Amino acid sequence: MTTATAQAHPNIAFIKYWGNRDAGLRLPVNGSISMNLDGLFTKTTVSFQPSLAVDELIINGREVTGKGLERVSFILDLVRQKSGVKAQAEVISENNFPTGAGVASSAAAFAALALAATKAAGLNWTEAQVSRLARLGSGSASRSIPAGFVEWKMGSGDEDSYAVSIAPPEYWALADCVVLVSSSHKGTGSTEGHALASTSPFQVVRVADSTRRLDICRQAILERDFDLLGAIIQQDSDMMHAVMITSQPGLFYWEPATLGVMTAVRQWQSGGVQVAYTIDAGPNVHVICPQAISKSIAENLRSLPGVNSVLITGVGGAAHLIP
Ligand code: PMV
Repeated sequence: MTTATAQAHPNIAFIKYWGNRDAGLRLPVNGSISMNLDGLFTKTTVSFQPSLAVDELIINGREVTGKGLERVSFILDLVRQKSGVKAQAEVISENNFPTGAGVASSAAAFAALALAATKAAGLNWTEAQVSRLARLGSGSASRSIPAGFVEWKMGSGDEDSYAVSIAPPEYWALADCVVLVSSSHKGTGSTEGHALASTSPFQVVRVADSTRRLDICRQAILERDFDLLGAIIQQDSDMMHAVMITSQPGLFYWEPATLGVMTAVRQWQSGGVQVAYTIDAGPNVHVICPQAISKSIAENLRSLPGVNSVLITGVGGAAHLIP
C-alpha cells in the first residue's frame, strides 16, 4: 500500500509533560497522563508518490512550507529509512477544530501522521512503535495513539518511552469543557518552552515530585475518584505554570479571563461541585467534570467575562486507520 488515511484525537494532559532530558529524541524529564478528546480530531492521508520531487503538506486546504513541512518530513524520513520506500509523500491533513485555538493540534496531527505514514509505507507496527514515532514529532502526540486515559512512560531511552492506555474511553464518563478565552496568536510554542523549563529553580522540585502526582492520578482514574483527580490535576497544572512563569525568560500564558475562569472553578469547588481546571501552554482553560454535569458547567462558563466559546468533549478512543 502506498496510501493510507488515519484519524487521531487531541488529548488534554492531567499530569503535564514540560521539559526534555533529550530534546532531539523528545525524551521527557517526567512521565505524563492524559485523556483523549472525543469529537475533536485530525484526519490525515499520506501517499508516497514517485512523481513528487519533495514532500508536500496541505493543512485545512492550505499548502504549508518551512518549519511545519520540515517537522513532517523528519517523520517521513524515519518511515522511509525503516521501510525502504524512496518516494516523497503528499500529506493532506484536516482538523475539525481551529488550529491554535487552545486545543493542542500538534498532538492529534503527529499521531495521525505517524499512523498513516507507517501504514502507507507498508509497515505493520505495534501501538508502542507508532507511539514512539509520534513522540519524535511532538511529545504529547505519543499519548494520542492509545485509547481513552493514557500514560506516557518517560522510559530509559528511545525504545521504551511511549504511551499506553490506562483505561478505555467508556471506563469513566468525564468531560472536558474547553474554554476559549482568546483567539489571539499563540505565545511561545511548546518546543521552545520545553527548552526553557530547566531555567526555573522550581523545575527540579516539580520533576522530583512527579512520581507522586502520577501515582495519585493513575489511582484516581482507576478508582473513578473525581475529588482525588480534580485536586491532583489542578495542582499539577499550577506547578507547571509556576515553572513557566519563573523561567528565564518567563512564559506567562494567562490572560485576565483565564484567571476569571480559574477563580470561578475554585468557587464552584468549594461549593461541592465536581469540577477542576487544567491549562496548557496558552490562555484557554480546560475544565474537567463528570459528563452528567458538563452542560450546566459549560453554560455557567459561557456567562463569565472574556469567555468567547466553550466546546464540550468526552473521552476519545485510539488513533485509527480509515478504510
Ligand atoms: O507535545 P508538545 O511538545 O506540544 O508539549 C505539550 C506541552 C503541554 O501541552 C503544555 C503539556 C502536555 O503534557 O501536553
